[in-house]
Amino acid sequence: MRLVLLGPPGAGKGTQAQALSALWGIPQIASGDLLRAVVREDSELGREAASYMDRGQLVPDEFVLKLIAERFRKKDARSGFILDGFPRNVRQAEALGTGLEHAGLKLDKVVAVTLPDEEVVKRISGRRTCRNCAAMYHVVFEPPAEPGVCDKCGGELYQREDDGEDTVRERIKVYDETTRPLLDYYGRLGLLAQVDGVGRPDEVEKRILAALNGMAVPIKG
Ligand code: AP5
Repeated sequence: MRLVLLGPPGAGKGTQAQALSALWGIPQIASGDLLRAVVREDSELGREAASYMDRGQLVPDEFVLKLIAERFRKKDARSGFILDGFPRNVRQAEALGTGLEHAGLKLDKVVAVTLPDEEVVKRISGRRTCRNCAAMYHVVFEPPAEPGVCDKCGGELYQREDDGEDTVRERIKVYDETTRPLLDYYGRLGLLAQVDGVGRPDEVEKRILAALNGMAVPIKG
């Protein structure tokens, strides 16, 4: 399965990508996670990426395309992948299409998860992420058993730098202007399915699986 998950910030792309990755045994490739790993290295490149991310702006395409190409070279991506947060604009989508074509591959499906803006703000303001294993929680909707501590590995939970309300509103604007046109782009290619992101994570997952219409065979559960 080679799947793209599209959607506004906080739509649940990461949550769903993690669930589907566990179900199918293929990697979640999240451009935001790759960028945050570079930022943590505290290099010149990391500081440059952070300067865009902290303002809710997209990091320049060249930078992101290089990171994604490196990630695709890892062995685990050969059996399929779930792209989360990439592509973010038409140029990135074209680069993805060209790269896959050169490898004799193509995308199976693009699922756009939809969510109203006010729900986006609620979800993001309550998000907490594990510093150690990247597991995701929400202080109201998916709270950890012990506040601030990851249920899975005991790691520290933190709030992302770009999750303040003003930055979230900017990220929604950037999504509407730059990423939303991908719905038309992939619609024209006959790859798009839209899924309502309102509801519990397991309900949204069922909708995604229904939209895929039996395309992937679960290897677990
Ligand atoms: P990125 O990390 O990709 O962030 P995003 O797209 O804004 O999406 P989020 O990670 O905020 O949300 P999500 O949809 O994954 O939702 P989640 O599952 O976490 O990008 C960050 C920045 O990096 C960008 O602004 C940009 O600067 C840069 N960047 C990244 N990719 C780039 C690219 N390709 N090109 C250029 N720049 C790029 O859920 C959110 C919360 O809601 C969680 O707390 C979760 O527990 C909870 N939740 C999830 N589902 C449900 C549900 N069904 N019900 C209740 N709560 C739920």
